[in-house]
Amino acid sequence: MFSDNLLNSKRILITGGGTGLGKAMANRFLQLGATVYICGRREEVLQKTTAELSATTQGPIHALPCDVRNLEAVETMIDAIWKSGPLDVLVNNAAGNFIARTEELSPRAFESVIGIVLLGTLHATMACGRRWLKANHPGTVLSISATYAPVGSAYVVPSAVSKAGVEALTRSLAVEWGNRGIRMNAIAPGPIPTQGAFSRVLPRPELEVLALDRNPMHRFGTKEELANLAAFLISDGSSYINGEVIRMDGGEFLQGAGEFSNLGRALTDKDWESLKPRKKS
Ligand code: HXC
Ligand code: NAP
Repeated sequence: MFSDNLLNSKRILITGGGTGLGKAMANRFLQLGATVYICGRREEVLQKTTAELSATTQGPIHALPCDVRNLEAVETMIDAIWKSGPLDVLVNNAAGNFIARTEELSPRAFESVIGIVLLGTLHATMACGRRWLKANHPGTVLSISATYAPVGSAYVVPSAVSKAGVEALTRSLAVEWGNRGIRMNAIAPGPIPTQGAFSRVLPRPELEVLALDRNPMHRFGTKEELANLAAFLISDGSSYINGEVIRMDGGEFLQGAGEFSNLGRALTDKDWESLKPRKKS
């Protein structure tokens, strides 16, 4: 899909890059010539991913344990990266989420998810953005949102308010920093099977069936599809795309919005035939 040197000489940090979609993006970016840094809280997970991806791609990949909720830890990580040169791309991918009835959530449950998703994204974006602006160095921020960010969603309220904030940050800074060489975009994926997400938001087989039923394509997205879209959005080939949230969900969001979109399930071929105008004799 891309030439092998698409991301040559790009230095990229992926938060939460040790697992799931973050790991898939790391893999793809390495294949396309980038130098990749991944961070997360669990050092052993990062080391395992680094070893695996170094063996299967040309690398280089570096692991940095960091809790993005902690501003000081983020600044220390970014300083450590900048010692060998500035980053060109930040991918805000780290997240926390689970389904729950909102009235049953404790204050810590809200703080935990908002801390990772909204504050973590702010911490990393500001740490990179300030350095880029100071040095007049171009930069690109890509954040991984969710399709429910603009409309909200029951049962994932801490995530919904956080992702909405991430999208507001994306659009706001796209304008504020756009004249100084910094691009801000986001991807809003529909369900893509990862252990981290599905164990927490679709933890039962019947919930997966429900999710598939909502989708016009009747399938989930793949990590490769997400990684390819991300590679395009951080590449110089997309340099006029700024402030956009690209939905990648097989049309699921639109199916939910259209007044008559579920008629396909309610009406049979025979029903449609019977609804055609009768020929005048
Ligand atoms: C209610 C819960 C809960 C649950 C945790 N809590 N899980 N409350 N229902 N299922 C509460 C805890 O009781 C605690 O509150 C508080 O949240 C913090 O929990 P901890 O386990 O102490 O926090 P921590 O170890 O920091 O873990 C954070 C986490 C965890 C978010 C809770 O799930 C995590 O580490 N997630 C990271 C990976 C992840 O979530 N990936 C999925 C991304 S999918 P109290 O008051 O008891 O102390 C996604 C989009 C999916 O974002 C969209 C699909 C279409
Ligand atoms: P995942 O595998 O659980 O990824 C989340 C990553 O974030 C993990 O590597 C985790 O590592 C890291 N992380 C969590 N808290 C952190 C913290 N405080 N500091 C640093 N890193 C932290 O889930 P995923 O499915 O790949 O999700 C990736 C992104 O896609 C998320 O932004 C999610 O909201 C978004 N998304 C996913 C789907 C989907 O269906 N998969 C759909 C829509 C949006 P540690 O636990 O080691 O810290």
